[in-house]
Parts: sequence; C-alpha cells; structure tokens
Amino acid sequence: MDRRPATALRQAMRLDRFVSHATGLSRSQARALIRRGDILLDGLAVTDAGRQVAEAQRVERAGATLALPEPLYLMLNKPCGVLSATSDSAQQTVLSLLPATLAARVHLVGRLDKETSGLLLLTDDGAWSHQVTSPNHRCPKTYIAQLAEPLIDDAERRLAQGLQLRNQKAPLRPAGLRRLDAVRVQITITEGRYHQVRRMFAALGNRVVTLHRQRIGGLVLDDRLRPGQWRALTAAERAAVLSGQALR
Ligand code: URA
Repeated sequence: MDRRPATALRQAMRLDRFVSHATGLSRSQARALIRRGDILLDGLAVTDAGRQVAEAQRVERAGATLALPEPLYLMLNKPCGVLSATSDSAQQTVLSLLPATLAARVHLVGRLDKETSGLLLLTDDGAWSHQVTSPNHRCPKTYIAQLAEPLIDDAERRLAQGLQLRNQKAPLRPAGLRRLDAVRVQITITEGRYHQVRRMFAALGNRVVTLHRQRIGGLVLDDRLRPGQWRALTAAERAAVLSGQALR
C-alpha cells in the first residue's frame, strides 16, 4: 500500500489513532505499544496514548518512521433499508457493505435516511468531509423525489423564496426544483437539516414516496454501481465534489 510521509498528516490526531492507522494494528494493540514505550514522538518515548500528533511531527517504531496510508475517498450507492450509521446492534449499516479493513478507517460524509437511496460519500479525511457537510460551504446536493400527489403550481416560487419548516427558527435557503413528470421532481438543496427534503414536500402539502440522492457538488453517482456497490473516487471527482463543477 502507498504510504504518505508522516509530515503529510492532514490534521492533528491522537497518537494511538495515528499508530493504529499507520500500522494496521487495532487501537488497543497500538495503545499497548505506546504504554510499553515502543513509540517515539520526535525522538522521545511517549506513553500517553492520547497525545496529539501534529503535522510535521515524526512518529517512530523500532527505528522506522511510521506514515499514514493515502487518504480514502469512496462513493457508495446506498440501498434503501440500510442505516447511515457506523454501527447498530440490530440493523444493517452502510459500513457493513465495505471490506472490514476499509470500514475500520472511514466515516460517513453526511447521512441519508434509512429509506433514502443513492450517493453516499465515505472518507478518512476529516477536513474534506467537513467542507462537504458544513452549512457554511453550501455544497449543493441533488435528489430525485417521487411524490404521492402532483405538485402544487407555485412550488418553484415558494422553494426559491426559502420555505419555513415547522419548529425551525430560520427559513430554509432557496432550493432549486425541476419537474420531471407529474409526480417526479429533481430538487437541489445547499444545507442538510434533519429529513429536510421530506419535510419540505410535507410543507408543500405533499409526501415523498421515494427519495434518491443523485449528486453532491459536481459529482454524480456512477450509474454502473448497483445498490450496495462502491468504488474509490478519482482525484478529479474528489475535487468536483467541492468545486461544484461537473466532470466531462
Ligand atoms: N432529505 C431527507 O429528507 N432525507 C434524506 O435522506 C436526505 C435529505
């Protein structure tokens, strides 16, 4: 596996997490190494597993510098009925769709409801996922919704103004709507409040029957991925998520 130099650490992380990621050992095995004084931080043995490792610090074991693996960026076609969670005692989670070695590393970049399908991103790059999910970055997310009823005539105007949801102080940001047929629409939003799309159509007197996420920023779900399948993003796709520019 490619290893990036320890100096390329993207953000500070706990020493036990660093050692576990860099060696492939479990977190408790990493802690045992640290407790034994086997891990050097900038040349000195550190026995505190919670010590933060910052960019440019050198971590060594048995005379070798430890380095983090290349960051992972994955897209998954989430099936309906699977939870967007890292673990659950009773229900299947999206992480169970990945090989265990990858599942142990990544976190979810935002969530989809259990009954929503489509594009879900996973990564171990916390700074990147923050940019995708932070409301300040206004990363657009596009969904296809199948509605229970034909949509009211002035839906475009009300969505463009910013809907007011019940029990919410601030109105929503303007959302884009395209009608695909009488009961199918494409909707684009730039924030991610709880059950947002379902609640938006409820506020318009309708009900979402099925919901599918098609796009995040400039990245469209690969239509060769069947529900439950995943693949790594290319560097261009990773950039397109944040730039919003679609790939040609
Ligand atoms: N909005 C919803 O209501 N559900 C989702 O899963 C995503 C956006």
